Amino acid sequence: MRKPMIAGNWKLHKTLEESSSLVAELIPAVADNQNVDIVVAPVYTALGKVAETINGSNIKLAAQNCYPEPQGAFTGEVSPPLLKDVGCQYVIIGHSERRQLFGESDEQVNSKAHALAEANLGIILCIGETLEERETDQMFDVLRRQIRLGLKKLSAEQMAGVVIAYEPVWAIGTGKTASDEQAQEAHAFIRALVTELYDEQTGNATRILYGGSVKPGNVDSLMSQPDVDGALVGGASLKSEDFARIVNFQPIA
Ligand code: PGA
Repeated sequence: MRKPMIAGNWKLHKTLEESSSLVAELIPAVADNQNVDIVVAPVYTALGKVAETINGSNIKLAAQNCYPEPQGAFTGEVSPPLLKDVGCQYVIIGHSERRQLFGESDEQVNSKAHALAEANLGIILCIGETLEERETDQMFDVLRRQIRLGLKKLSAEQMAGVVIAYEPVWAIGTGKTASDEQAQEAHAFIRALVTELYDEQTGNATRILYGGSVKPGNVDSLMSQPDVDGALVGGASLKSEDFARIVNFQPIA
């Protein structure tokens, strides 16, 4: 059985005060939910404050990015050991905004994955095709490349710390969610690929989240798909009520 994960990616939003009030509202709203791994990913500057506020609750902390070296002359960067030090349990890597706006390559994503595995931090690896890639039948090739290169030389043992987030770029922040069938199709493909690259047990155990305009109104049916193990939520994670409703999703029988 794969434990569902619902992760909120706050992107570049919220001051210290706003970040801690958001989680302070969230804590009671999700306190009874022991069935879901609940994760929030604030901006770097709010990590310490959010870590203090969620202390003792069932909410876990993630960062949105990292640099692959532990320390050194890398002005402006933040490393996995420091993210662990501030209280993170997970780090998001390979988000499409990082790939598109900051030119992050699969090779860079892979070195971050190794640095995180080394630091014993959980990895949320984002992959996903653009609209053009989908329309020109390159979707499966793109997903295959992002997985093969992103996870290159990670052992089956290290895969226990990896969560994959399938986020079709055309669905991010656009209000256009993938249909349940489109999500299931991509997730089944990703699981088969992980099984092929590793083994059946790793394929069955790896959690695959869907991301891209997940809202209270579509989470229940998405979470009812057999290979959808959770969600990576952007816009709707910025409101405690919406995010709590997503965390407390109700699968459709
Ligand atoms: P969205 O963002 O929910 O606002 O579409 C998802 C993401 O980028 O992780």
